[in-house]
Amino acid sequence: MSSQTTRRQFLRQTFAFSAAAATGSLSRALAQPVDPRAQHILMIGDWGAEDMTRGQQQVAASMVSYAQRNALKPQSLFMLGDTWYGDLDGGAASQRWNTQFEKLYPASAFPGPAYTIAGNHDYQHMPATVNKLHAELEYAKTGKSRWTMPARWYTFDVATPDHKPLLHVIATDTNAPHAIKPTDKVNFTLSEDDWHEQTQWLAAELARPTTAPFTIVLGHHPIYSNGPHGDHARLIADWEPMIRQHKVSAYLAGHDHDLQHLEFADHPTSFVCSGAGGADLYDIKIDEHQRGPYAMKVHGFTHLEATPDALTFRHIDETGAVVHAFSKSAGGKITIL
Ligand SMILES: [Fe+2]
Repeated sequence: MSSQTTRRQFLRQTFAFSAAAATGSLSRALAQPVDPRAQHILMIGDWGAEDMTRGQQQVAASMVSYAQRNALKPQSLFMLGDTWYGDLDGGAASQRWNTQFEKLYPASAFPGPAYTIAGNHDYQHMPATVNKLHAELEYAKTGKSRWTMPARWYTFDVATPDHKPLLHVIATDTNAPHAIKPTDKVNFTLSEDDWHEQTQWLAAELARPTTAPFTIVLGHHPIYSNGPHGDHARLIADWEPMIRQHKVSAYLAGHDHDLQHLEFADHPTSFVCSGAGGADLYDIKIDEHQRGPYAMKVHGFTHLEATPDALTFRHIDETGAVVHAFSKSAGGKITIL
């Protein structure tokens, strides 16, 4: 089957799903009081904007007020990459760690770990003497922060409040090798050897038995996207078949500066993009009626409410409005809220 044929089938199948999903009638808002069995995770991508944009400040404030308004103490934050745009003067000792991370997403609201993956802007030497990726790994090693990045790729588990298995999370590094001009002294990628090693690791991790009802993969680059970056050929070729085979519940990405939710007929994985944490927004590339059920050019963040029965994702904009929400049962049934 040609890739063109595959693409056309996806478009047709998702259009049918989107039309059916529009009839969902359950409330998007978080039920009160909050389910005591649930764990709550807030996530953003593409957030560490150069010169701290108004967008980053507004999304951060919206996250804090959302947590307060709903009496949530999130179990953790997922930081989906593109941590630092522009120069990170001083590397792990940069003032930006304090002003644009510790203070903006305060421990008083978000006491748990901030699990982090690398984006393409983290794979840069900026300024020339600073490797931003190394600085991020080094900052995590200080042990003085919620910043959690033990390696470029790693796994962790999230249990229910009464210590039952809930989420098995595989955090990846999607900075796949691609040609960089010899004159480019700023950008770099994983080597082919690193990519091969990680791909073998991912295959082993996905095959490892887990007692958690949900497996989630984090990767900065979307596999499928309605944003300007589009679908990712290398991820589709190397990782997507494994993710499908092992019935990963959700693949969570950033990179495109928008909020998205894509479902494909007969695919066990939900594709969520939350790349709207502060950097300038991108236009949506594909008509929203063609692939869905949701894509929107808006600043915001994503709330994951997880119980042993279901995952509920809510996209929330910078004003605190829930702009899209869906739940996915442990059996894989999707309900648009
Ligand atoms: Fe990116």
